[in-house]
Amino acid sequence: MKMEGSDRDRNEDDRHEAELKPTRPTLAIMLFPTTNLQLFQAPLLQFCAYAILALTLLFLFVFRRPAHPLKAPKLLSISENYPVLGAVRFFTARLEFFRDGIRNSASGNFCFWLGQHFIVGLSGDESRQVFFQNLSFGIAEGYAVLFGGGPRVKNDKGSDVAQEPGFLSYFARRVTHLLRREYLAKNIRPFIHDIQARLDELPSQTGMTDPFVSIYEIVFQLTMRMVGCAEIANDTARLRKTLRLFETIEQSTTPTSIIFPWMPTLALFKRTIAGGRLYRLFKGIMDDRKKTGRREDDALQYLMDMGDNIKSVIQFIVGAVFAGQLNTGINASFMLTYIGSSRYWYDRVRAEIDAVVYKYAPDRSMPLTQRFEAIPIEAWESEFPLLDCCLKDSIRLQLLGTMYRRHVGIGDVKVGNEVIPSGAFVTYHFSDVHQDPSIYSEPLKWDPSRYFPERAEDKTKPFCWLGWGAGRHPCLGTRFAKLEQFLIVAIFLTRFDYDTCDDKGVPYDAVPPPDLNAHAATKPTALIRLRYRPRELKM
Ligand code: HEM
Ligand SMILES: *[C@@H]1O[C@H](CO)[C@@H](O)[C@H](O)[C@H]1NC(C)=O
Ligand SMILES: *[C@@H]1O[C@H](CO)[C@@H](O)[C@H](O)[C@H]1NC(C)=O
Ligand SMILES: *[C@@H]1O[C@H](CO)[C@@H](O)[C@H](O)[C@H]1NC(C)=O
Repeated sequence: MKMEGSDRDRNEDDRHEAELKPTRPTLAIMLFPTTNLQLFQAPLLQFCAYAILALTLLFLFVFRRPAHPLKAPKLLSISENYPVLGAVRFFTARLEFFRDGIRNSASGNFCFWLGQHFIVGLSGDESRQVFFQNLSFGIAEGYAVLFGGGPRVKNDKGSDVAQEPGFLSYFARRVTHLLRREYLAKNIRPFIHDIQARLDELPSQTGMTDPFVSIYEIVFQLTMRMVGCAEIANDTARLRKTLRLFETIEQSTTPTSIIFPWMPTLALFKRTIAGGRLYRLFKGIMDDRKKTGRREDDALQYLMDMGDNIKSVIQFIVGAVFAGQLNTGINASFMLTYIGSSRYWYDRVRAEIDAVVYKYAPDRSMPLTQRFEAIPIEAWESEFPLLDCCLKDSIRLQLLGTMYRRHVGIGDVKVGNEVIPSGAFVTYHFSDVHQDPSIYSEPLKWDPSRYFPERAEDKTKPFCWLGWGAGRHPCLGTRFAKLEQFLIVAIFLTRFDYDTCDDKGVPYDAVPPPDLNAHAATKPTALIRLRYRPRELKM
């Protein structure tokens, strides 16, 4: 029984109908006060006015909402939760919307609508644990509708491959296999070559670069190499084109696409075109490999060898690249940006990197690429504790927006004295913990030392650092994401002296704070550049 519009269990609703009825007539009166109607004298005008009124009532009837379940958290007032549209501030000022919702509810939990979707916003320690642990909450079902998610491949019946039963476990199985440590270890060399080649291409070896372009592109290349295919990862021009297709799809989730999913918008049209191109791109590469018998040592080859059907293969690759790129690309840029804004941490991070390079490749006359190749995966995973803290606080500050679930089980799920009805969507805002001053002192400040053992702010409460997810759905790409971030930062800091400045070259001593109202990965609104020059290597 799903809480989707009128599919909802009517019997249960009828019991509570009385309490909710007043809201609808009130609205009709607000929009069409009867006094105004009397102003129309001409019969034609009067007819039009009644026609509009009738259409509006029809509209409100079609988009009417079932009664609010009695034991669910408090429903937001009509000023926050309009008929038909729902909670518009979810899109325009998400963090403030959540903070107000939490403040106005005794339990910290509250309900609202987005179009025809019924949503429960959760906050607080108990709710967070239920959010991450209850077996009735589906993750894919939540993101598919509220996040729009990545590109979607259709099966022969015209429905989404990603929504087929079993696809999620197929995806998790394959991604887990492809991101195994031995494959990561094998890819370190190509990763180093990719990073070096891209840094060689910087316009000149002294200058300013926008990390949200240059570093973002490097991440895309590494992700394509790790979970995609060699033909694209090897070819810069093709890589850029593919990245643009992904961006088009990412931008196609708009408030309209969530509230009125059936409405044919321009963004949706662009998304369909971009999705079609991606599909043909990967299909072309697979066909070519089959026809010529050529083999590559990459994720695509593994999926083909496993005999997976072509649509699953393509949905897997675009989904995995999307999951990786969305977050890592921007976060990797932020890590360099934060480090470059603090001399204190810059010097310490650099000392940590120099020491590891020196430990595994003490011969300073060796080319840098070879010195980096000498560092084993074990060292990347355990000998950069300070980089780890830098990454953690970058993610804490930049992991924006809400996580999603959908209650796909039967019966209510209890949170405190309230319940989440079956079919409801559930959201939890990262800021509920990441910007809580009782957990993180001076929460807007980037400070890696908050994770040092003597402070350990991230261990204050269960699940209070959510950077890699938690509970039943931890991030499956953590190991890979950390490796690629550390590689990029380590190579950049070894090759260049740099600082973080604006586009005029005025240095920042603190990176402008993030737009906490953002919905997801965003490039910053302030202009941020890395000003670099070749480093005099004395390590
Ligand atoms: C800095 C980079 C990354 C960060 C901060 C990050 C963060 C997260 C978080 C917070 C979640 C949990 C979402 C939730 O519970 O609603 C998650 C899930 C996930 N991540 Fe990542 N991620 C990163 C990179 C990657 C990469 C590179 C991949 C794969 C190539 C990846 C694959 C996944 C997958 C498949 C899930 C869903 C797990 C599931 O459905 O159970 N992530 N990630
Ligand atoms: C891609 O580059 C790698 C390393 O240079 C090479 O081994 C591989 O054959 C190339 N593959 C394609 C399809 O270009
Ligand atoms: C999920 O919620 C239901 C209903 O509140 C509860 O009975 C069940 O134990 C919860 N499951 C987990 C794993 O917490
Ligand atoms: C960093 O990565 C997280 C991963 O989920 C993402 O939600 C967040 O928006 C990213 N930050 C930025 C600024 O992109």
